[in-house]
Amino acid sequence: MESLIPYLVPLLLLPFSAYLVFSIRKKASGQRKNLPPGSMGWPFLGENMELASLGCQKLIKDRMHKYSGHVFKTSLLGEKMAVLCGEQGNKFIFKNQNTLFARWAPPSLRKAIYQDLDATKHQEPKATFDNFQYDILKPDALKKYVLVMDSLALVEALPSTQKYALSLACRIFMNREGWDHSGDFLKSLSRLTKGILSLPVNMLGTALNRAIKGGRVMVEATNEDGEYMSDSMIVNVLIGLLLGAEYELSSLITIVIYYLAELPHIFNRVLEEQMEIAKSKGPNELLAMEDLEKMKYTWNVVRECLRLTPPSIGGFSESTAEFTYAGFTIPKGWKVLWTSHSSHMNPDYFPEPEKFDPLRFEGSGPEPYTYVPFGGGARMCPGRSYTKLVTLVFTHNLVTRFRLEKVIPNEKMLFRSSPAPAHGLPLRLHPHKR
Ligand code: HEM
Repeated sequence: MESLIPYLVPLLLLPFSAYLVFSIRKKASGQRKNLPPGSMGWPFLGENMELASLGCQKLIKDRMHKYSGHVFKTSLLGEKMAVLCGEQGNKFIFKNQNTLFARWAPPSLRKAIYQDLDATKHQEPKATFDNFQYDILKPDALKKYVLVMDSLALVEALPSTQKYALSLACRIFMNREGWDHSGDFLKSLSRLTKGILSLPVNMLGTALNRAIKGGRVMVEATNEDGEYMSDSMIVNVLIGLLLGAEYELSSLITIVIYYLAELPHIFNRVLEEQMEIAKSKGPNELLAMEDLEKMKYTWNVVRECLRLTPPSIGGFSESTAEFTYAGFTIPKGWKVLWTSHSSHMNPDYFPEPEKFDPLRFEGSGPEPYTYVPFGGGARMCPGRSYTKLVTLVFTHNLVTRFRLEKVIPNEKMLFRSSPAPAHGLPLRLHPHKR
């Protein structure tokens, strides 16, 4: 045995030395790379605690101020990430979506949605997926739903914008009437959305764990046999649509109510425009597409809400090759994030950016890539026309029937995964005197 020791020691040390050499070389090559400025935060946690405490918009604003207005590095959701900022960042990502970047969704969202479906089935042809979404969401196809939006707004709009957005989506995309949206399904959807930007830790009590349980209820509810799509495709498309339709849309409708209740001079001009339209209709006559086309000032109000308080923080993707941006290297495999807030608040493009001013959208409107609430390029939101119609129909029904009074006068807007008033925006509704 003793005679073997001189051979065994180097043999045992070999893996350790290989690991040491590998780590040193990896570190050296990392140092050679001119990575963007920024901090990777704590091991494993990255800057997730800061994301939770500051909210996404403040985190990005602080980092842009501290490191660079063009690009900074961070670690979020368990991933190394480059955040590309401002209109130049938006332009770079939107133009290179199909060449430099691949679709990427936070692991928490993927886990919660796909559950234990066979991963190989998720590789659906992209064209089928896109066509399906764009076919239902095309403005022409949506025309016939204006009546549904209007009739449902009369019944469901108040008090819950969430219920309205969800029942409408269920009615239009799933042909489900009288679904029990107030029960399990709504709660599950809410659990799912809260876990979207969480660390990928699936243990009892974590946000991801709750999101997976929420996703399970949704998958079971939406997973019916389709004629031309597999189970996973149905789940993928329907949950994508329902998430967009509920999570971002109900957030936008709440934001619109928030500003209308906050700013009486804006409310009065919207009311004037909407009353003109209401007066042109017969008793109990529902809105038509032509009426929505006349709502120009109201639409500019909604656009200003989307600028100041964008419901979507932006979009994630994964770099498929190393690239250089603003003089810095972004390695292959890093996640890349664009954000709407980083250009929406730039005073060079939006003078007095904190001021609520719908008139800034009159005339030729904002410069390209500066106003991007729905993203841009190949992955631009297919739900934008649907969003416009639903928000206008909702606003018409609200302002033509009520004046709004905030119960909490200076209620703050909180920016977490999507913006929301701190106390849920309690309101007093005063019916107009007829
Ligand atoms: C206020 C409302 C909404 C906002 C602010 C919004 C915002 C966005 C943004 C920024 C993206 C692009 C993300 C990226 O670049 O990766 C996106 C994608 C998407 N949105 Fe929306 N959205 C809204 C409403 C909706 C609605 C109502 C639907 C469905 C009815 C919807 C369905 C989708 C889908 C399916 C995608 C993925 C497109 C793709 O990757 O090809 N969205 N949305």
